[in-house]
Amino acid sequence: MEAKIIVANWKLNPGTWREARELAAPIARAAKKLTRVRAIICPPAVYLNGLKGVELGAQDCFWEKSGAHTGRLAPAMLRSVGVTTVIVGHSEMRAAGDDDAAVNRKVRAALAEGLAVILCVGERARDPEGHYLRELETQLINSLAGVSKKQASQLIIAYEPLWAIGALALESDSPEGFRHQAIFIRKVLAGQFSKELALRLPILYGGSVNTKNAAGFLTSGAASGLLVGRESLRADKFIEILKIANY
Ligand code: PGA
Repeated sequence: MEAKIIVANWKLNPGTWREARELAAPIARAAKKLTRVRAIICPPAVYLNGLKGVELGAQDCFWEKSGAHTGRLAPAMLRSVGVTTVIVGHSEMRAAGDDDAAVNRKVRAALAEGLAVILCVGERARDPEGHYLRELETQLINSLAGVSKKQASQLIIAYEPLWAIGALALESDSPEGFRHQAIFIRKVLAGQFSKELALRLPILYGGSVNTKNAAGFLTSGAASGLLVGRESLRADKFIEILKIANY
């Protein structure tokens, strides 16, 4: 069985470099002992060059390599400080202006640089008619347009229904709900790339993951891993999730 991929998305936290170090250190120590999980920490970019002993991911990147793009970060810059992975298309970045075309440019630029990409997709709401499936399909097809089969092997999909993310979330999805969505996502990926690749790419669940619901998503939900927001800001809680995934 593949190692479970457990991603910490720290978002705009913690407030200082010292706190970031203190949060990462015990996680790095714990992760080293767990052979069945791949822990990836995605801190604010300013902390990326200093955190040691743990696999690092960025929360976003830009598609250009250099030039007059104030405030942006190029994939090659991230790679040069040891970053292996980048989250692209997080719903909070989409809400801040990233449309599918921008997400697609970022995905292609990051993959071309050899970074693994965690592509976030997820519907705004579920409707009884199932229109949300179309929303998901469109996001996937548009975000992955022009990605070669070879580059696609570096993709990780994170299914994060918007209604389940963040402090205002009503609830997390259920393991059964996730499982259903993951099958649908694999179908779309099979059409885009190949059946073989679609079955192999990891699909993570994200949205209000905590120590109580993590096991359900990994076992009955058959998730390849988890994308954890709030619960990754407490080292003890995040380490507990890593241990739950280390089976
Ligand atoms: P949450 O965030 O775990 O706080 O719901 C998840 C995410 O936005 O990636």
